Amino acid sequence: MEYQLDLDWDDFLKNYWQKRPVLLKKAFKNFIDPISPDELAGLAMESEIDSRLVSQSQGRWDVSHGPFESYDHLGENDWSILVQAVNHWHEPSSALMTPFRPLPDWRLDDLMISFSVPGGGVGPHFDQYDVFIIQGTGRRRWRVGEKTVLKQHCPHPDLLQVEPFDAIIDEETESGDILYIPPGFPHEGYALENALNYSVGFRAPNGRELINGFADFALAKELGSFRYSDPQLVRREYPADIQESELDALRKMMIGLIEQPEDFKTWFGEFITQSRHELDLAPPEPPYQAGEIYESLHQGETLRRLGGLRVLRVGDTCYINGESLVTEHSAAANALAQHHILTADLFGDALEDPSFLAQLCELINSGYWYFID
Ligand code: SIN
Ligand code: CO
Repeated sequence: MEYQLDLDWDDFLKNYWQKRPVLLKKAFKNFIDPISPDELAGLAMESEIDSRLVSQSQGRWDVSHGPFESYDHLGENDWSILVQAVNHWHEPSSALMTPFRPLPDWRLDDLMISFSVPGGGVGPHFDQYDVFIIQGTGRRRWRVGEKTVLKQHCPHPDLLQVEPFDAIIDEETESGDILYIPPGFPHEGYALENALNYSVGFRAPNGRELINGFADFALAKELGSFRYSDPQLVRREYPADIQESELDALRKMMIGLIEQPEDFKTWFGEFITQSRHELDLAPPEPPYQAGEIYESLHQGETLRRLGGLRVLRVGDTCYINGESLVTEHSAAANALAQHHILTADLFGDALEDPSFLAQLCELINSGYWYFID
């Protein structure tokens, strides 16, 4: 299934992206849900998959976490099941993310899917991330408020909400509508009838995560072994004081580490291709021989990238799930990064090179790519 998104991207990026929330009516024409409520409920029964059930009764909120064993206790109103990273587990659902590729892959996070019965929702809150909430089957009433300082509270230890807010958007969403919400804008959505919603999330790292990630890299690669030194030291009157010039020198040492362009690129490629959610890895058994892969591709078979696997390029180097792919076949590496579905022609000559073929074989034997039957 290929989803066609009817959106003027230039206008959207100029006027809304990271700036204003907007309801894009009928952005998907004749929208067809890639998953059924039953299938979603089934995923929430799996232990590897992150899921929540949020319910409300007379203003009292309750949250429980999957895996769930049964849904028999649930009534007909006021609850919602939310399943994280469905693109990792349910291939047809991942097709919903492709139309958002005018945005950079490295900013993309995951696809969260919720199923709500009438009255169901997670209550008023805001998120740290940009999100496109696609309305699937059913209808929901969405309210979005202005980005202001709002008090947060926890009506349940696992649920962060905000105080009531005035709406700048207050609309009913129908199948195919998309509500885009930038970080920090409060919102709430209540189902009017049984409803599926698909949240395509875009994530941006904060400084703390970057420093932390770079520190791990520096430790692993033993960067920054040089020590602070002060051969020009003069006798000092206040030995307990740390001087501005000393702080400057220390800060320069730290910045100097980050300013090594090659290290920085390698680090970021490795860092940003690590998935925050578990991958549904199923390495083939028995493993492939390189020759079999060559044959299959030349016979017209097609490779598909595992859902949620992050493949990105920095310069000419391709990074796959936290590791670089060292190869001189940059066109083939580029194909791995740009395409989710691969055929022999996209690899060009690289398939004739035993060392590239061996690398591709290893990627397939790791479960990162698989042949579609
Ligand atoms: C949803 O309930 O489907 C989306 C929750 C949210 O607002 O983030
Ligand atoms: Co939200």
